[in-house]
Amino acid sequence: MPEIRPLAVVTGASSGIGYELARLCAENGYDLAIAADHAEIVEAKQGLEALGGKVDAVQTDLSTEEGVQDLIDLIGGRPVDILCANAGHGLGHGFLDQDWNAARHVIDTNVVGTLFLVHRLGQGMRLRDKGRILFTGSIAGLMPGTFQAVYNGSKAFIDSFSFALRNELKDTNVTVTCLMPGPVDTEFFERADLMDTKVGQGRKADPAKVAKTGFDAMMKGEGDVVAGLMNKLQAAVAAVTPQSALAELHRGMAEPGSGKK
Ligand SMILES: NC(=O)c1ccc[n+]([C@@H]2O[C@H](COP(=O)([O-])OP(=O)(O)OC[C@H]3O[C@@H](n4cnc5c(N)ncnc54)[C@H](OP(=O)(O)O)[C@@H]3O)[C@@H](O)[C@H]2O)c1
Repeated sequence: MPEIRPLAVVTGASSGIGYELARLCAENGYDLAIAADHAEIVEAKQGLEALGGKVDAVQTDLSTEEGVQDLIDLIGGRPVDILCANAGHGLGHGFLDQDWNAARHVIDTNVVGTLFLVHRLGQGMRLRDKGRILFTGSIAGLMPGTFQAVYNGSKAFIDSFSFALRNELKDTNVTVTCLMPGPVDTEFFERADLMDTKVGQGRKADPAKVAKTGFDAMMKGEGDVVAGLMNKLQAAVAAVTPQSALAELHRGMAEPGSGKK
C-alpha cells in the first residue's frame, strides 16, 4: 500500500513566496494542491513533482468565488492539513489614478477570495480538530500605504483577521499564523508597477528565506512572524508612530518616480 501523505494547499504557488512555501511543504512530506491564475502554475507543478509527492494544480482566478471553487473541486474533499493562503498582488500609483477594476481585483484576491477559501477549508479543519493555516500578510498592513493604499489596506485586513481567527480557534488544534514580510525579491513590484519607486528599487529579502521563516512559525503554531531584523524594527517603529507620519513615510517609498531614474 502506498504511504498516505498529508495534504498542503498553497495558493499563489507559481512564483515567489508561494512557490517556496509549496517546495517546503513537499520537502517535508506533504502532497500538494496548488493554484495560481496564469499558466506558470503548470511549470511549478512539474518542478514540485520532482520532489516526490503528488501535486495537483489548477489555473484559476482566486479573486472570484468560482475560481476558489475550482481549487476546492481540485482538493475533492480530501482532508487538508496545511493551508497557505498566500496568493495576492499589489498595485502602485495614487488611488484616484488607478483603474477601478484593478484596484478591486486587489481586494477581491487578497481579501475576499482568501477569506472564502479559508472559510471553506477551515470548517473541515475545525471538524477534524486538526490543521495549520498560514496567511501571507505583510508589514505593509501596519502602515497606511500612500501610493499603494488599497494593497496596504488589504494586508491590514489580513494581518488583523489572522489574529482574530487564531483567537477564535484557540481551544482547538487548528493553528493560525500570519507571515509578515517586508520587501521580498519576487515579481510583486513589477506586477504592481512600482519599479520606478524607492521601495521597488530597494533591497529585498530572498523569498526562500522568507518562506522558511513563515513555514517554521506555522509548524510551531506561532501567531505571527515578521521576516527579517530590519522589518522587525520597522514593525516596532510603526506601532508607536502616528498614522499621518507613517503615511508620509510611505509616500517617500512608493511615490511614482521616487526611485533612481
Ligand atoms: N514581495 C513582497 O515584497 C511581499 C511583501 C509582503 C507580502 N507579500 C505577499 O506575498 C504574497 C506572495 O507574493 P510574492 O511576493 O511571492 O509575489 P509573486 O511572485 O507575484 O507571487 C504572487 C502569487 O500569487 C498569485 N496570484 C495573484 N493574484 C492571483 C489571483 N487573482 N488568482 C490566483 N493567483 C493569484 C500569482 O499567480 P499568477 O502568477 O498566476 O498571477 C503568484 O503565484 C502576496 O500575498 C503578497 O501580497 C509580498
